Amino acid sequence: MSGGPGGPGGPGGPAGRGGPGRAGGAAYDVVDLIRAKRDGAALPGDSVAWLIDSYTHGRVADEQMAAYLMAVVWRGMTDEELDRWTAAMIASGDRLDLTGLTRPTVDKHSTGGVGDKVSLILTPLVAACGAAVPQLSGRGLGHTGGTLDKMEAIPGWRADLDAARIRAVLADVGGVICAAGPGLVPADRRLYALRDVTGTVESIPLIASSIMSKKIAEGTSALVLDVKVGTGAFMTSLDDAHELARAMVRLGTRAGVRTEALLTAMDAPLGRTAGNGPEVAEAVATLRGGGPADLVEITVALARAMLDLVGLGAAGPDPAPDPAQVLASGAAYPVWRAMVTAQGGDPDAALPAPAFTRIVPAPASGHLTRLDARAVGVAAWRLGAGRARKEDPVSASAGLRWFAAVGEEVRAGAPLFELHSDDEATFPRALAALDGAVTIGTTPPAAAPLVLAHVR
Ligand code: URA
Repeated sequence: MSGGPGGPGGPGGPAGRGGPGRAGGAAYDVVDLIRAKRDGAALPGDSVAWLIDSYTHGRVADEQMAAYLMAVVWRGMTDEELDRWTAAMIASGDRLDLTGLTRPTVDKHSTGGVGDKVSLILTPLVAACGAAVPQLSGRGLGHTGGTLDKMEAIPGWRADLDAARIRAVLADVGGVICAAGPGLVPADRRLYALRDVTGTVESIPLIASSIMSKKIAEGTSALVLDVKVGTGAFMTSLDDAHELARAMVRLGTRAGVRTEALLTAMDAPLGRTAGNGPEVAEAVATLRGGGPADLVEITVALARAMLDLVGLGAAGPDPAPDPAQVLASGAAYPVWRAMVTAQGGDPDAALPAPAFTRIVPAPASGHLTRLDARAVGVAAWRLGAGRARKEDPVSASAGLRWFAAVGEEVRAGAPLFELHSDDEATFPRALAALDGAVTIGTTPPAAAPLVLAHVR
């Protein structure tokens, strides 16, 4: 069905069917592109770039792009199409220039998990080991929290920095966590908002291009992806997680960014807290040399992979101190303080306290054999830590802590969860989310690995 007048390779469609194409490029009829994608036909060379450009500039309507995205959910994309789609997304906005810094740049991206406060610890840790970490992040939507929401629990801390300030903080401190400005991949901003309300988030090529376009545009020279697998993650199957990791590693590598991925378990939440302020407090405790074992293990594995990629790993030409020792010694904590201060935050200020707390006791004695990550994430969200729509506010103090991790012993009647909220009315729905979230058995479960695979 492709080709011919009015076909995907033909002249531009009439107004309302996509309008004229880019100056100097081919023009397409968007309805023909939707039909071609729906039917699994090949798409002509620059039609994908035309579609992204036309959508970003309002020449293709939301309903047309939504139909196209749904066709992608069903049909997928060829590697070539995915390359073109990602390149067009990057070309929709600015690219940050991080060349010329004395330290090598390396970043991490997580596909999102419950209790995942790793970026807050990893950024100062890898900076303390000698690399520069440009951690451009987003806000959370749904049951997994966003890194910026967590950092904004710190009194005074500001997420918005311009490109010159990002470079300056990286040069002075070595790590920066900030918002990806509106000029970085504006196509993703529109596409993600549309995907969110049209049931088209769950597509491997759409997720891969959304994540990688932003990471490539951010200008890092190397990138480690933390692809979460399990009940609390986007990817619940190991096969899908492998496919997503391979797609992202390929996109990064082709764009000249040294990219690797770790697949990590997300059936149970990470650490002992979920929620913005509670996670900051746990991250600080970890940076001071404490912290729960699972959080330390994942953070150190990611730090080693990042340092390896930029030649600062144990086997590299210029080995940095081992991140496990740096973290345990508390040597990354001064870097955290400098990062917070550089963005107007007060690292010594008390984090906001919740107006209400509620203890949930363990229903039985025994070993905790399951703690469902998704249920914990939904509970934190219902307590006020997350947002349903991107313009909603989030609470800095809402969330929960749990007093035992999977494998540990619990005693009937002793505290199992502590819920935090600014609004007592949120407790019943949070408690409903936690109903059935734990299993308590008579014997401890077999130890399960946290790092499931390394994709290079
Ligand atoms: N995170 C993103 O940035 N994009 C997606 O599509 C999914 C997760």
